[in-house]
Amino acid sequence: MLDSPERPAKANRRLSASLRSDVPAFMVMDVVAAAARLEAAGKRVIHMEIGQPAAAAPATAIAAARAALASGRIGYTQSLGVPSLRARIARHCAERYGSDIDPDRVVVTTGSSAGFMLAFLAMFEPGDRIAIESPCYPPYRNVLAALGCEAVPIEVTAATRFALGPEALLAAHRERPLKGVLVASPANPTGTMMTADALAALIRAAEGEGIAFISDEIYHGLDYAFAAQTAVNVSDDAVVINSFSKYFCMTGWRIGWMVVPDCLIRPIERLQQNLAISVPTLSQVAAEAAFEGRDEMEAVKHGYEDNRRIMVEGLPRAGFDSFLPVDGAFYLYADVSRFCNDSHDFARRMLEEAGVAATPGADFDPVHGRHFIRFCYAGATAEVREAVERLGAWLKRG
Ligand SMILES: Cc1ncc(COP(=O)(O)O)c(C=O)c1O
Repeated sequence: MLDSPERPAKANRRLSASLRSDVPAFMVMDVVAAAARLEAAGKRVIHMEIGQPAAAAPATAIAAARAALASGRIGYTQSLGVPSLRARIARHCAERYGSDIDPDRVVVTTGSSAGFMLAFLAMFEPGDRIAIESPCYPPYRNVLAALGCEAVPIEVTAATRFALGPEALLAAHRERPLKGVLVASPANPTGTMMTADALAALIRAAEGEGIAFISDEIYHGLDYAFAAQTAVNVSDDAVVINSFSKYFCMTGWRIGWMVVPDCLIRPIERLQQNLAISVPTLSQVAAEAAFEGRDEMEAVKHGYEDNRRIMVEGLPRAGFDSFLPVDGAFYLYADVSRFCNDSHDFARRMLEEAGVAATPGADFDPVHGRHFIRFCYAGATAEVREAVERLGAWLKRG
């Protein structure tokens, strides 16, 4: 059921795909397809596989987009983004973290996904080694690989709350020099967070060795254990990547932003001019208005807090008694080694027999991922409650 949908390419003597395009598929999308096949056959599935809020974008964002659309002409914008949006993002950083950021350092991107591409192209050469945590969001290593860079996975453990620590980073650097390091807090798939001190220590250790620091802050705002700190408050040289996808529930609008050091503004502007011209205008208009919908988004966040409590209290009763700290984002990373040696097969059975879709850990960690399942609890609270009940009944049936 979770078999890859990839099929052998038809022979074509004139054209073949590049080696760099031969990156692994994003497995969660295979789970989505398998769940859709079951639904088409009439089965009800509770979706906990894809990392996407069930809620809509803020009403303020939707209204602003409607008004812009009604006005008729939707043209290109400046490549770095609409100036008023860049200024609003800088103000958001001041409001949330007390940061003092020149709006010139803000770059609007087509989701954080485009932010990674721009950052990697602007910062690294082919062959450069970039440290990432393992487990982590799979596109980090796949996009780096497509660009000819080497992703260097460093295993994270409970000793550092499943965050990359300075010692492990410097040990990898001593083995063979690193050019960069990329971390996320709150993290995907683990939902764990770095404390402000841990983040600062890692940035200082990296920069002390000339290792460029990239901070994926896409889950900021969705922190439950303690407040997330931004890398911008630690170093002007850190590159921050963020998005409207998660906290603002705007995944399909494909809009995000970066805060970059002065020396990268013009290189990134040139790249964006050539790669995209500009970011979709309607989404930029909506994003600016989204900041006025914070109350609505805080209510959505309270829903995640309820879901988190249901998961943290209910899963152990259901039989899943081993998972990482559930600090932020909307993920819970459960160790299922008690039940199986292959979380891919476990996810398949869970989908078919319990009607609950979740993502096998192998997507995020090729080494230990076969022992883990990632649950996303960004859905409706009633469904999260039902999922926990279904899982308990399923495990009891054996
Ligand atoms: C850690 C992390 N970074 C980046 C992204 C990409 O998000 P987007 O391109 O929608 O901003 C995701 C999406 O799930 C993610 O989990």
